[in-house]
Amino acid sequence: MTAKLFSPYTIKDVTFKNRIVMAPMCMYSSHNEDGHVLNWHRTHYTSRAVGQVGLIIVEATAVTPQGRITPQDLGIWSDEHIEGLQELAGLVKEHGAKIGIQLAHAGRKAVLEGEIIAPSAIAFNEKSKTPKEMTLEDIKETVAAFRDGAERAKKAGFDVIEIHAAHGYLINEFLSPLSNQRTDEYGGTKENRYQILREVIDAVKTVWDGPLFVRVSAHDYQEGGLVPEDYVPFAKWMKEQGVDLIDVSSGAVVPAHIHSYPGYQVPYSETIRNGADVPTGAVGLITSPAHAEEILENNRADLIFLARELLRDPYWSRRAAKELGVSIDSPKPYERGWNF
Ligand SMILES: Cc1cc2nc3c(=O)[nH]c(=O)nc-3n(C[C@H](O)[C@H](O)[C@H](O)COP(=O)(O)O)c2cc1C
Repeated sequence: MTAKLFSPYTIKDVTFKNRIVMAPMCMYSSHNEDGHVLNWHRTHYTSRAVGQVGLIIVEATAVTPQGRITPQDLGIWSDEHIEGLQELAGLVKEHGAKIGIQLAHAGRKAVLEGEIIAPSAIAFNEKSKTPKEMTLEDIKETVAAFRDGAERAKKAGFDVIEIHAAHGYLINEFLSPLSNQRTDEYGGTKENRYQILREVIDAVKTVWDGPLFVRVSAHDYQEGGLVPEDYVPFAKWMKEQGVDLIDVSSGAVVPAHIHSYPGYQVPYSETIRNGADVPTGAVGLITSPAHAEEILENNRADLIFLARELLRDPYWSRRAAKELGVSIDSPKPYERGWNF
C-alpha cells in the first residue's frame, strides 16, 4: 500500500523522506541561560529522528538575547552557538531526518529581566511587562539579527529555516493591527504591517538559498484582528519573495479564547494554500494517521506538523506506517547497517 504521508517531498534540492514534520517546540532546557544546546536537546531531537520523522524543526531559537521567551531558550545570536547546533544537526541527520530551525524573536511576550521591545508600547495582558515601542534603529538591528541567525544556521548545517511570525511574537505583533498601532511605515496598512516581515525575508535570503518556511498565526480570534483571508495577500507576497512553504498555525497575539478540536487550523491552511497557490503545512491536534492522510489526500496541506503527539510518542511515524499499511525502514545502528 502507498500512503501520501509516506511519500517524499522535495523543496529545492532537499528531500524529506515523508510528510511528517516535528513542529517547533520550546524545551526551555538551556539551563545555563546562555542559549546553548545541552544533552536534553541532543536526546530529544535525535529520538524523533530515530523514530522516522521526515523533518525536525528545532524550537524557537532566539536571534537576540532580548528576543528570548525565557532565559532557558535556545539561542543563535552569537557565533558561539554554532558548534552545539552543528552537533545537533549532525546527530539528527545521521538517522536520515532533515533538520530545520525556527528563528525567533519574542517581542512583547519575552519574560525576561530588563527592557522588552515591540511595535507598540502595549502589554500582552495585565500580567505582562509593557514593551518599549521599537525605534527605526531597533527594527534595523532586529532584521540584521534574523539575517545573522540564518547565516549561523547555514554554517551549522541546517536543511531548512523557518521564520517565526506566529503566536504573538515580534513579527506577528507587527502583522496584526491589534498589537501594531504605529503611525510610521511599519504600521497602518497591510503593506506597512507586513514591512518588517518583508525585510526579514529579504535579509535572510541574502545568506540562505535553502528551503524557507514562515510560520503564521492565521486567526487572531478577536474582533478587529486578522482572519485567514487576511493572510492570503501576505502569503502571496511571501511566495513572491521566495518563501517555499507557509506553516499555518493560529492565535496568541492577544489573550483570546481559542475553540480547538482535531484539525481546527486545517481550514486556514486550505484558505492560504488555495488563495495564494503556495504549499502549506497543517498543524494542531492532528494525532491520527488517517486524519493526517485525509488532509494530504484532499490537498488541504502539503506537510503535516505534529507537536504534542510527538512528545507523547517519538515513534509515531512507525505506528502511523503500520496503521496505514506501509513498510518503512527499521531504526538501525547507522554504520553497522543491522536490520531487525
Ligand atoms: C511544549 C510546547 C512548546 C511549543 N513551542 C513552540 C515553538 O517554539 N514555536 C512554535 O512555533 N510553536 C510552538 N509550540 C506550538 C506547536 O508547534 C504546535 O503548533 C501546537 O502545539 C499545536 O500542535 P499539536 O496539537 O500537534 O500539539 C509549542 C507547543 C508545545 C506543546
